[in-house]
Amino acid sequence: MTHISTFPGAEQAAERAARDIAQQLRRAREARGTAHLALSGGGTPVRAYELLTGELSDWDGIEVWFADERCVAPEDEQSNYLMARRTLLEPVRIPAARVHRMQGELGPDDGAARYASTLRELVPAQTSLPALDLVVLGIGPDGHVASLFPGAPALDAGEQELCLGVHASPKPPPRRITLSLPVLCAARRCLLLATGAEKRPAVTAALGEPTREVPASLLRRERLSVILDDDASPSPPGG
Ligand code: 6PG
Repeated sequence: MTHISTFPGAEQAAERAARDIAQQLRRAREARGTAHLALSGGGTPVRAYELLTGELSDWDGIEVWFADERCVAPEDEQSNYLMARRTLLEPVRIPAARVHRMQGELGPDDGAARYASTLRELVPAQTSLPALDLVVLGIGPDGHVASLFPGAPALDAGEQELCLGVHASPKPPPRRITLSLPVLCAARRCLLLATGAEKRPAVTAALGEPTREVPASLLRRERLSVILDDDASPSPPGG
């Protein structure tokens, strides 16, 4: 069952997300010695990452990955890595060797191939797929997660394809790298954070019948936690 928590405002939702992320990381580290966390970009998680710096001070044993990246240099203002570096990775002083960024500057296909092999090498597999402990996701107004867009060929990736190059993203920039749906579904937990009325239709659809037109609806429901503010929370049926 999907676990859904709703808060009056975006700040409270970010506080809960930061607390949940810290808790999942501690648990994973206690259980397995290492915790593998994947981050998304976009504006929504910024505050949660900032608050996470105060929720978790000991980052030993934590490896940081990315759910997706834009094909730009790491110092470009559009880079998901740059956002995570500023809000979280620099403040907690995690060593660079434990931050595995997608190399957007290599382009979609080479960047995806390189990332897939690093994932295979460093993240322990469960049923042949790397099992990330926690993937933090945002959602687009069209229902995309990571860089998996409605109806895109990337949604057909088989279990052998851990990472995919995206060449025509409807959200700029068009060239991106993304984890595949099988990798998101193999993660021990996905945390989807959404705030604002603009996200309400997408959140409603994501919690409804699974469809390729709403990639978030294809996530593995029993491993999904959804944190919302009131504005983003699903419309009642027929509402
Ligand atoms: C990206 C993302 C993307 C994002 C959603 C939500 O690179 O843009 O990782 O999947 O999470 O588009 O973005 P906002 O939080 O900015 O609405």
